[in-house]
Amino acid sequence: MCGIVGYVGGRPCRDLLIAGLEKLEYRGYDSAGLSLLDDGHIDSVRAVGNLANLRAAVADERDAGAVAVAQTEATIGLAHTRWATHGRVTEENAHPHSDEEGDVHIVLNGIVENHSELRRGRIADGHEFSSETDAEIVAHLIERHYDGDLTEAVRAAFADLRGHYAFVAMHVEHPGMLVGARQECPLVIGLGKGETFLASAIPAFLRETRTVMRIENGEIVTIDEDGATVTDADGEPHEREIEEVTWDEDAAERGGYPTFMMKEIHEQPDAVAETITDRLPELDEVDLSELTLTPEQSTRIRRVVIVACGTSYHAGLVGRYAIEAWGRIPVEMDIASEYRYRDPVVSPDDLVVGITQSGETADTLAAMRLARERGAHVLAITNVMGSQATRDADSVLFTRAGLEIGVAATKTFTSQVAAIYLLGLWMAQARGELDAARVTELIGELKSLPRKIGETIEGTEAQVRAVARSHYEGRFFLFLGRHIGLPVCLEGALKMKEISYIPSDAYAAGEMKHGPIALLDETTPVVCVATDSPVLEKTLSNMAEVRARGADVIAIATEGSEQVCDDADQTLFVPRTDWILQPILAVIPLQLLAYHTARLLGLNVDQPRNLAKTVTVE
Ligand code: F6R
Repeated sequence: MCGIVGYVGGRPCRDLLIAGLEKLEYRGYDSAGLSLLDDGHIDSVRAVGNLANLRAAVADERDAGAVAVAQTEATIGLAHTRWATHGRVTEENAHPHSDEEGDVHIVLNGIVENHSELRRGRIADGHEFSSETDAEIVAHLIERHYDGDLTEAVRAAFADLRGHYAFVAMHVEHPGMLVGARQECPLVIGLGKGETFLASAIPAFLRETRTVMRIENGEIVTIDEDGATVTDADGEPHEREIEEVTWDEDAAERGGYPTFMMKEIHEQPDAVAETITDRLPELDEVDLSELTLTPEQSTRIRRVVIVACGTSYHAGLVGRYAIEAWGRIPVEMDIASEYRYRDPVVSPDDLVVGITQSGETADTLAAMRLARERGAHVLAITNVMGSQATRDADSVLFTRAGLEIGVAATKTFTSQVAAIYLLGLWMAQARGELDAARVTELIGELKSLPRKIGETIEGTEAQVRAVARSHYEGRFFLFLGRHIGLPVCLEGALKMKEISYIPSDAYAAGEMKHGPIALLDETTPVVCVATDSPVLEKTLSNMAEVRARGADVIAIATEGSEQVCDDADQTLFVPRTDWILQPILAVIPLQLLAYHTARLLGLNVDQPRNLAKTVTVE
């Protein structure tokens, strides 16, 4: 989840750019950099680590001779915080990137999917690259198309690219202009008096101006100190509305949402896209070359053991279905706080996967260490670079959800699920368990998840709010599901307990008749996850049993499964996908239900009572 800030105007902008990056720190990053144009020359400074390191590197430039950076006069520049995707966390891979001559500098968020092919073309023409990133190609393409008109060069480069990204370019011959382009990643203009900003999010410039214009997909924007011109891929001008942002500083950090939790629910399409896109470079390939476990070694794995706590444990439960169904490898699930106390049997043929978004949960770390001591290959799935889990594991698979501030895990959960899908598919492919057509089909479905997650949020929220209004004063919520729907229910019940404090339980629907059905009466809302699965009909029978007790059934179903409505009082439809992937969509209405219930009760969803974001002590 990288960040972009660009400025052109009348004020020296070096410190304005760094201040803008500070406002984007919440997105998470591992390196940062900036480029400034002054007196016919562009200078760059980049640094690994946090913005304090960038500030130190800027200060060092006084001696190193990058004049535009060392002095504060430059009134045009670009800055970036990078979260590594293509290429390691190094100064060379940090943005901005430039062409060989250093005439064009760019910063980019997102992923250029066809960068290898484009890069090969430029190398064949005798050009050299200085980083391992997918972003650098954009500077080289602009240089190739440049014929005195920066906007046209950006437009031509944009037409060559495939992927989801937003970028901003600066050219040494245009000291009063920046040009940006957007495809799926956000880009927004801030209009000041005699100055203009171009950034990935409004907080980057909110201290300076509240007048904004949003860029849509497929658009190119040219800014100068007098404002912005927006055009499409064919050069046709687009009129954009000017908005006045009324958020205060606090609301700005929440991206205009009332809470961090709601902001993070809405960030799920991006978080999942960041997690999967560059690991699925082709429709027949899962690239997990970042693991030290090789595909060949993975064929010798006899058993997968997943250890995790809370929501991360639920992500593991979802992943179990995928790994077993696709790779035909047995998967055992262990609650990390229990694992070491039963003196587990571990073998060198085991792959032990520790899932922890923070990478600091004491029980998960202890379980991972024990498994490693006993000879298993330990793989951590975590969201935090440099966390303890990354040091206690043999291999690391990062989710790329960005910083999650709300205590209740939302975007980190869906990113974990996406990461386990990748792991399951990668192992299945290495072991030859899936034919090529099925791999291609699954990769296509995985790639469509970010869009479908967005559609699920938009498509269900109003209805979920109405359900919450009907039941927020209730004394108990029950969540029922079978098979792949069960972990979704466990997660829905956990969210409900955690942020609305309403007692909630999740049960395997087939277990109802063995006791818990006694809990039901006409005051009990029962949320049934009845998305497509091999056991849908059985779930429907369980729903009928529940309804016969007078309980109010709220079903989560797959679009087109109209039969579910017959056994439910209300049905919330989520988009159709492969049934194994359905949980990543089905959980979203349950996150929203817990959220709206808690808000109606007037509770602080970002910091529930008795809970902290990271549980490091036992
Ligand atoms: C629930 C939640 C917790 C965490 C659990 C593990 O919303 O956030 O249940 O999932 O404390 O935390 P990590 O994943 O950091 O190990």
